[in-house]
Amino acid sequence: NLGKVGDRLDLPVYAVGGFVRDLLLGSENRDVDVTVEGDGILFAETFAAEFGCRVKSHEKFGTAVLVFPDGHKIDVASTRLEYYVSPGALPTVERSSLRMDLYRRDFTVNTLAIQLNAASFGLLIDFFGAYRDLHDGVIRVLHNLSFVEDPTRVFRAIRFEQRLHFRIARHTENLIKNAVKMDFLEKLGGRRLLAELVQILKEKEPLSAVWRLESLGLLRFIHPALEASPPSHDLMEEARDVISWFELLFLERRYERWVVYFLALCDSLSSEAFEGACARLALNVHFQEKLKEMRRSAEERMANMEKRLSQQGRLENNEIYYFFKGLSVEVLLYRMAKSGNPELKRCISLYFTKLDSVRTSIDGTDLQRIGVPPGPRYREILDAVLSAKLNGVVFSKEEEIALAKS
Ligand code: CTP
Repeated sequence: NLGKVGDRLDLPVYAVGGFVRDLLLGSENRDVDVTVEGDGILFAETFAAEFGCRVKSHEKFGTAVLVFPDGHKIDVASTRLEYYVSPGALPTVERSSLRMDLYRRDFTVNTLAIQLNAASFGLLIDFFGAYRDLHDGVIRVLHNLSFVEDPTRVFRAIRFEQRLHFRIARHTENLIKNAVKMDFLEKLGGRRLLAELVQILKEKEPLSAVWRLESLGLLRFIHPALEASPPSHDLMEEARDVISWFELLFLERRYERWVVYFLALCDSLSSEAFEGACARLALNVHFQEKLKEMRRSAEERMANMEKRLSQQGRLENNEIYYFFKGLSVEVLLYRMAKSGNPELKRCISLYFTKLDSVRTSIDGTDLQRIGVPPGPRYREILDAVLSAKLNGVVFSKEEEIALAKS
């Protein structure tokens, strides 16, 4: 249908970039990027009117996003048409605008285009040897200034290399090393650095990319101390295993996997250095505070818990509950990965699978009904009932009321 609308408007339309790369590799990619040689906004608006999509246009950039009723999106970009007039002939439309558009991209493997117009539907356009690089499994920049123009590409190169099980071409790797040496990445804004790091940590298997960041000396751009005290491979692997375990529980608790990896990555950092890393990455101030506080509080609680465990051998469920209550899933998973103590791991696991969802059946209204005068005692009584329930001392609502009365 994209091609048909293009035909009607007499505009050449192509699927480009990551979508074509993944199509040829046989991997799923639902983000379709379309490039129109000519007015992409007119194209998008015509398509949207016909197929019942919403369209968001950015006149300044000549781009538009088509949003389908199911939420699916297609990005549309425009390239300027260029006419070359040869003496005595009609103006001919060159493909050079598409070529220029693709030349601006990061790596050869992202420069393939497939024509969508009916007359040449499916025609693969390969200006820069992308097909060969895809076949050989190579990540290669298009020109020497690629990383200078956009230092985030250093991270993208590693992410694609590891995700696709490719290798970065030797010359491209030398350009990365040069970018590291020349400190281009120092100038990269915190938000952009964060976005790249998060994308890496959100990959299905992020660890190999993290080790590549480490071996190329890139972790120091997050915090210089990560160079002197590098992240523990064992801890990161343990974090990966804990995440897999947690995902298999299919709990309904939302959490961000990348945050668990981030905490594990920064485990060797002091509080000050951790604060520095968060600031360098321009994390949202509120989130930064929460993360620092949780990291500190978890450290303290785990130490207390270990002490109690060594004294008592075993903890009551209500103790476990109150030790962990209020800590985020991310911090708990990170601590679970970090702890070498199997009993402590068991406690965290019990908290997630059972204790965290326990609630009392009675509330303030029940206390009022049985004649308890309103006041701070309500909290104490309800906490005592919850503890009894966590420890399996009371089960039914009647038993809870009886306990509250006593
Ligand atoms: N691009 C670029 N330089 C960047 C970011 C993006 O040249 N710093 C180009 C790439 O060629 C890419 C296209 O813009 O194909 C779209 O970017 P993005 O959606 O990030 O890339 P995908 O290849 O679709 O990556 P992913 O599979 O991770 O979504």
